[in-house]
Amino acid sequence: MMPQNALRSRLLRWYRTHQRDLPWRRTRDPYRIWVSEVILQQTRVDQGLPYYRSFLRRFPTIRKLAAASEQQVLKAWEGMGYYSRARNLHAAARHLMSSGNGTFPSDYEEIMGLKGIGPYTAAAIGSIAFGIREPVLDGNVFRFLARYYGIDRPVDGPQARNSFLPYARALMDGCRAPGTLNQALMEFGALQCTPASPDCIRCPLRNGCRAFLQGMQGMLPVRSLKRKVRSRYFHFLVVRWKGHVVLHQRGNRDIWRGLFEFPLVESSRPGLENATLARYGISQEGRKGLPEPGPLHKHQLTHQTLHVRYYEVHLSSKPQLRNPALLLVPEVQLDQYPVPRIISRYLEAAHG
Ligand code: ADE
Repeated sequence: MMPQNALRSRLLRWYRTHQRDLPWRRTRDPYRIWVSEVILQQTRVDQGLPYYRSFLRRFPTIRKLAAASEQQVLKAWEGMGYYSRARNLHAAARHLMSSGNGTFPSDYEEIMGLKGIGPYTAAAIGSIAFGIREPVLDGNVFRFLARYYGIDRPVDGPQARNSFLPYARALMDGCRAPGTLNQALMEFGALQCTPASPDCIRCPLRNGCRAFLQGMQGMLPVRSLKRKVRSRYFHFLVVRWKGHVVLHQRGNRDIWRGLFEFPLVESSRPGLENATLARYGISQEGRKGLPEPGPLHKHQLTHQTLHVRYYEVHLSSKPQLRNPALLLVPEVQLDQYPVPRIISRYLEAAHG
């Protein structure tokens, strides 16, 4: 192992030559850094980049974000998934406007107090925007630390942070640019010390790396919890009437809260049995039984596999909607409604 300051200077030197040129690395505006970190919580850099740009064009300041409606904010987030990130960002912007003048806090505890910001995101924003000396522990950093120091404690349990924090703090000790070090660590994990087949042959740190020296790269980091993935069977009823389509706004405590979809029947097994449109308060004059199902689409979320079918229903009379979560929307206005990725794909395919 090499001394901490030698390791740190190698990391920083690596970062100077290998870092990606990203827009949030060219700003000190805490709002922009905040938006980037929230996007990067669950979205890869290359996927998140266009969203970062369009989100900030749309909502260039905390004030503008706070003034928008939740539906507009969700619309800007559409396609990225994990929509509670957008709802929390919006709620926090409103809080900053109502409790002050919309200035982003420069104190670690205050940053942590904002909705949607945990220790990792607070450390990232705080260190990058304000030079706060708090180490970032995200998946990339956990992996690097586990390998470099040969730490075989789990990176996903409740104790993970406590197990790894002392290593990260020791590395940050005496560092003059904590924000740069945090970004160097995240970037190193993302580009060099990658999950599968890390590029150890060209790694500037391999002489001190426990995992490399002991051929343990494939065994580290260790995970304790096996991810359980469950299957769900979604049957979307695409109810059309004279250039209109019926949308349903999703409620609480499930995926896609607040987003719009087609009226949905969910079943515990692949087939659709007794479910009917009437369950959704749509009366369907003169129709018996269910419409023909379209092809099956599979959609993978972190903990759920969705098996999705669409059923096109063309009505000859205006549907009567008795459920307040249902709306009859002109098709030309569909683009104003935030919808999950699978729905926007379906709409795009249907309209060419
Ligand atoms: N992941 C999360 N934040 C990041 C950042 N600032 N740089 C690189 N990867 C990140």
